[in-house]
Amino acid sequence: MRTIDSITEMVEIRNQIKRPMALVPTMGALHHGHISLIDKAKEENASVIVSIFINPTQFGPKEDFQSYPRELESDLSILKSLDIDVVFMPNQDDMYPNGFETWVEVRGIGDRLEGEQRPGHFRGVATVVTKLFAITRPDTAYFGQKDAQQVVVIGKLNRDLNLGVDLKALPTIREPDGLAMSTRNFYMEAHERQASSVIFRSLALAHDMYFKGYRNSNEIKDEIRTLIEEEPLARINYISIAQIDTLEEIEHINNHALISVAVNIGQTRLIDNITVGPATKLLQ
Ligand code: PAJ
Repeated sequence: MRTIDSITEMVEIRNQIKRPMALVPTMGALHHGHISLIDKAKEENASVIVSIFINPTQFGPKEDFQSYPRELESDLSILKSLDIDVVFMPNQDDMYPNGFETWVEVRGIGDRLEGEQRPGHFRGVATVVTKLFAITRPDTAYFGQKDAQQVVVIGKLNRDLNLGVDLKALPTIREPDGLAMSTRNFYMEAHERQASSVIFRSLALAHDMYFKGYRNSNEIKDEIRTLIEEEPLARINYISIAQIDTLEEIEHINNHALISVAVNIGQTRLIDNITVGPATKLLQ
């Protein structure tokens, strides 16, 4: 395993790496969600680059950039055991040198849901992912459905800017009680962690309603809301039922839909989602 922290070096060696080559972008503190992406990338490619970069530009001023877990040592030992070819971990000053002034903004889909709640978030994500693609030039890149809107935003910029990367979105990996694995789960105390299972239970209920034939969004949202409100530690940020490709809210589920929620459990903000319907594809 080669560990590279210089952009220049990464650019120099990218053509020596066996193709097809995959990129799995992460912010580190690796868990089984990340590992599922890496495993799939290994299975489908001749070589794999995992990037670790806690991207400051996708955090809002009041968000957890400073306290975001940094676990480089254990991350590197996990990646070594997975036999990854290259770990790319650029530093902040190289990624955003003085005078950095170019931003990638995905209007429309990037402004809704998480984009509305976290202004500037997707501008940071879109910019850093474009940079990581430009630096590593992967054939394929792997993302998790856990961050469904992120997948749709990256799909759009990949098309709009003709980046030509083959994107893959893989299913959300969950804890035994259904909670989607996330670095931010570790912020919760034991009683909060227990309460947080209400998020997945509410999505499972929505899925059940869809399965039984319910198609009216408000009816489904009301049931989600009622269930979450039964949990005293939970505060709903949003409940959304949207068109998968545009992320526009829909009143009636005709074909497919992305059902997503953002919920605060104590101080910890968690997001989760499911897709329903026959054409449940986040990427086109
Ligand atoms: P990070 O939160 O570290 O996640 C890296 C990748 O792992 C993302 O594609 C995310 O969707 C995926 N992932 C996280 N939890 C998952 C789970 N439970 N199941 C499946 N996949 C999961 O997302 C980011 O970093 C950043 O925004 C990044 C894309 C690296 C840009 O900075």
